[in-house]
Amino acid sequence: MTTPSSRTGLSGVDQFFTGKVGEGGRVRTGITELDEMLHGGFMEGDAVMVAGSAGCGKTTLALQYLVNGVKFGEPGIYVTFEEMPDQIYRDAKNLGWDLRKLEEENKFRILCTSPNLLLESEGESLLDESLRDIQPRRIVVDSLSHLAMFVKESELRREAYRLIMHLKTKGISSLLVWESPQMAGGSFSITEVGLSFLVDCIVALKPVEIESSLRKALVVLKMRGSDHDKRLREFQITSTGIKIESAFTNYEGVITGSPRKVASEKFVDLFRGAAEKRK
Ligand SMILES: Nc1ncnc2c1ncn2[C@@H]1O[C@H](COP(=O)(O)OP(=O)(O)OP(=O)(O)O)[C@@H](O)[C@H]1O
Ligand SMILES: [Mg+2]
Repeated sequence: MTTPSSRTGLSGVDQFFTGKVGEGGRVRTGITELDEMLHGGFMEGDAVMVAGSAGCGKTTLALQYLVNGVKFGEPGIYVTFEEMPDQIYRDAKNLGWDLRKLEEENKFRILCTSPNLLLESEGESLLDESLRDIQPRRIVVDSLSHLAMFVKESELRREAYRLIMHLKTKGISSLLVWESPQMAGGSFSITEVGLSFLVDCIVALKPVEIESSLRKALVVLKMRGSDHDKRLREFQITSTGIKIESAFTNYEGVITGSPRKVASEKFVDLFRGAAEKRK
């Protein structure tokens, strides 16, 4: 029996950087505007990171991606280290997704485990068992940040790499959740531990304070081998999931946490102010 670690040793570095499974195919998220931003969807077999600070919608986006996958005939597995399954079923139901039903139909599975069990089991791992049963095309790991609690910092990249490679060699598209610290001030870093280069695509979610109200922004930061929308788009979490709206075109500095109106907008404001005074 092989374990994730034995099958995905670091010997396949070249394969990691060159080997794309199912080249050209797109994996639709089912969120129309996001698919447009991604020019059709994620690249098939890619490892995607969804990064963002606490409570900004990472789990919602990840579950929506899996539920929509089932609609497209692509079974999915949701691996979680953080929440109790009952809570996930409940929260998903409140968003209109009946995960238990999908599980009964064998199109979906929640795998609630600890990272060390996922990575280091003897014989057939829990993950392998689920991969065999469900034959997933998509997998979500929520979250890689929890992996960081179980392994030494120096080993985190290796372990994350091992997991990513395990899924890649099976041709499964993976979506890995990463909790970024609050991104404020002038700097913006996705992971302080250097995981960004391991993934093919990064979608960042970020709360932004604009004129005393808290709004949410989504941006595709990178996508290997494909063009994509570079704009920051506003989004909402609604009772049916993530809804992407227009771009923050009138602001700059949104991503670094200090949004200000671009010069043309300031001019419009000044002009409007002057016009008001003349009334
Ligand atoms: N049914 C719902 N209707 C509307 N908004 C909801 C609903 N469920 C959750 N939300 C919103 O989504 C937010 C949490 O989203 P989610 O759990 O996806 O975030 P997260 O980034 O995964 O959070 P964490 O860092 O805690 O894991 C809530 O704070 C709430 O604002
Ligand atoms: Mg979450």
